[in-house]
Amino acid sequence: MEIQWSEEVPPEYLTEISPILRNREFLSLGRYVHHHKSNRLLHSMNVSYVSWKMARRLGCDEKAAARAGLLHDFCPYDFKEETPTGEHQAFFHPKAAAENSCLHFEVSDKEREAILSHMFPLGPVPKSREAWIITAADKICAVTELCHVAFALARRDRVVIRPALG
Ligand SMILES: [Fe+2]
Ligand SMILES: [Fe+2]
Repeated sequence: MEIQWSEEVPPEYLTEISPILRNREFLSLGRYVHHHKSNRLLHSMNVSYVSWKMARRLGCDEKAAARAGLLHDFCPYDFKEETPTGEHQAFFHPKAAAENSCLHFEVSDKEREAILSHMFPLGPVPKSREAWIITAADKICAVTELCHVAFALARRDRVVIRPALG
């Protein structure tokens, strides 16, 4: 898989997220359709970018916002599958994403909590300003994706994801 960034995307942002984008398991999110037309990798990148920008503007921890935003849906499986606990996917997948994130990366408590609460009001109440940013950014990105509006990184080819050839 090849990921191309336009010059509009600040290098400070890319520095925060590039270690996660080198992980093959994480990149496999590109195989899963998300909100009809998008895929889970692009959706996660968009939530991350919007969260990073909001955190910057509000003087919050932009690194935690970018990373937890990127990892919030780190679930490499089809959301139509039954969950192992029998819970609705809306309640189950944040826990799966947090567990998977901790398995593959060094995740801070603040990042983990933000992943766990991103489906608020379905699930726990966000505990930090960064967690509130991520749950808001997730909803903004979901609405734009469902309405087929190119937004944030999906706009003006700020990021282009190409599957590996062959
Ligand atoms: Fe989610
Ligand atoms: Fe999401």
